[in-house]
Amino acid sequence: MKTMTCIEDLRQAARRKVPRAFFDYAESGSYSEQTLNANRADLERIRLRQRVLSDVSHRTTKTAILGEPAALPLVLAPIGLCGMQHGDGEILACRAAQAAGIPFTLSTMSICSIEDVAAAVDKPFWFQLYVMRDRGFIRALIERAAAAKCSALVLTVDLQVLGQRHRDIKNGLSVPPELRINNLIDIATKPAWAASVLRGKRKTFGNIAGHIRGMENVNTLSVWIAGQFDPALNWKDVEWIKSLWPGKLILKGILDVEDARIAAKAGAAALVVSNHGGRQLDGAPSSIAMLPPIVEAVGSDIEIMFDGGIRSGQDVFRALALGARACLSGRAYVYGLGAGGEAGVARAIEIIRNELDVTMALTGVNSIAEIDRGTVNAV
Ligand SMILES: Cc1cc2nc3c(=O)[nH]c(=O)nc-3n(C[C@H](O)[C@H](O)[C@H](O)COP(=O)(O)O)c2cc1C
Repeated sequence: MKTMTCIEDLRQAARRKVPRAFFDYAESGSYSEQTLNANRADLERIRLRQRVLSDVSHRTTKTAILGEPAALPLVLAPIGLCGMQHGDGEILACRAAQAAGIPFTLSTMSICSIEDVAAAVDKPFWFQLYVMRDRGFIRALIERAAAAKCSALVLTVDLQVLGQRHRDIKNGLSVPPELRINNLIDIATKPAWAASVLRGKRKTFGNIAGHIRGMENVNTLSVWIAGQFDPALNWKDVEWIKSLWPGKLILKGILDVEDARIAAKAGAAALVVSNHGGRQLDGAPSSIAMLPPIVEAVGSDIEIMFDGGIRSGQDVFRALALGARACLSGRAYVYGLGAGGEAGVARAIEIIRNELDVTMALTGVNSIAEIDRGTVNAV
């Protein structure tokens, strides 16, 4: 892993190791990928202020996220089908995050279940919830997350209708992989991946399989899931979820100032400024473009996190400078997972941490709290 010097190296390694359908699934955005590309382009435009001779010998990336100590302001974002990038991917990523001193978020659409992950790690993790039509199932899922001692519930609010990713359709993406001839040839060239997935605990959606009566068969499970995202979801459901969840609630997928104002009044502990990594509303602004107005409107009322396009410690610095308290990383760690399992995720976190540390030094900053608008050129 030492020769992996940046996230792009991990991405190239993952491209070689992970079957194309799953690599493309991680990589893609919806439709024309305008928003996906804007996430990166707008971050890259932000220029950092080089400052010198300001004694940066005492700097630290340590911070607090939702009141808990963290080694750096980074969280591993919820990723569906993580266990298809590498067998037991959710467990491996959670272990790497906990060893590095940052939170891990398990997706509703994970391969390993809440209970699988809880049994395999020592510390609490966050659980991400998609609200489905079957509210009895959702209630049970929240109870399972509480029983597993999850330390925060991340309610994703931007995926009640699915944005289309062209490549997923063209690749015949399914779980487990559809046995088309080109998929089989592709998998045959990725033996390490195949071995890890075969050894893995599960081959389907661990949080759902076995928890819905009559849905034991994988095909019917996929059909059930596709019909379950509920377009009727609204702010009243947030109240209902708050009444069921005893702990901290995070609203993920806020991209508009009006919605941020409502979110701040809804009693959530934090919100994540996010466009789902450019996978939902194509044509929406980049996350970084919407961060400053949202911070300005509600930053003193609610903790604001950020995701979308983070590929380096410099990017984390940029988002913090524009008012985020912490960043979620999606693809950057997924590439690490595909490239090298637990060690690959650990490397992804280490790369970002080291880059953030050096960036702090060269911008004349000793603590995370000092990273503010004054550390970047006017945006
Ligand atoms: C492959 C993939 C799967 C994802 N699955 C979920 C999910 O199950 N739940 C969710 O809330 N967000 C999901 N997201 C969105 C991420 O949590 C996060 O918002 C996004 O990846 C951030 O952008 P980045 O990948 O540029 O860091 C997914 C993103 C990717 C790339």
